[in-house]
Amino acid sequence: MAHVLGIDIGGTGIKAAPVDTTTGQLTADRQKLSTPHPATPDAVAEVVTQLVQAFDWTGPAGVTFPGVVAGGVVQTAANVDHSWIGVDAVKAFEAATKLAVTVLNDADAAGVAEMRFGAGRGIGGTVLLLTFGTGIGSALFTDGVLVPNTEFGHIEIRGKDAERRASELAREEHDLSWGSWAGRVDEYLSHVESLLSPGLIIIGGGISRKADKFLPLLTGLRAKIVPAGLQNDAGIVGAAFSVDAATAGHATVHV
Ligand code: BGC
Repeated sequence: MAHVLGIDIGGTGIKAAPVDTTTGQLTADRQKLSTPHPATPDAVAEVVTQLVQAFDWTGPAGVTFPGVVAGGVVQTAANVDHSWIGVDAVKAFEAATKLAVTVLNDADAAGVAEMRFGAGRGIGGTVLLLTFGTGIGSALFTDGVLVPNTEFGHIEIRGKDAERRASELAREEHDLSWGSWAGRVDEYLSHVESLLSPGLIIIGGGISRKADKFLPLLTGLRAKIVPAGLQNDAGIVGAAFSVDAATAGHATVHV
């Protein structure tokens, strides 16, 4: 049994809890602090450090980031401060927290948690997890192996970045009914399905709690579509679980 602190950096909040990585259970209540604005590297590292101190944590930590992270270095920052681009997030968080830290994309972390402990448990073949929140995040698995940093939220639909049309934020900003938003999601999912043909699509992010409002409205997809099982905790659990793979020097996570 390994205990790892999972930390999930989102657009509105930064959440953390210690996780038993054998069972995927949180071993203490999670704590949440507001994401600083602007969400610069120093400001975010400061909040992450406060959470580490709140748990008196001295062991390893896994941290999610809402952008592409390759070799610990942030490559894109669509929904956080652009000064993150080029920053070695592992070094930044290790310097601030004095802990051994692993960093991975937020949707990849949620996907890892769902494949190991949630809706994708034991499912082989091609599985795609999509998170609908401020943006659209994606995590692609083939026989339980993660293909990191896929970024399918930025596919172009009707000349626009897909997440600008079909994220949860877009639904709120354009005050869309569930029916018209589901139409946009349907169009997006059909497009993604035509490219990847997953056997299973898992819908994660904040919207997964409201799955009954829009999943029945989706039509014409070949893949089975299910809501995420771990909902809000998926990022924390996946971040913690990925630490073992990173420590072992693996380039990706095999659930
Ligand atoms: C980012 C992804 C992230 C997703 C969800 C997108 O805008 O490009 O890296 O996974 O938002 O936060």
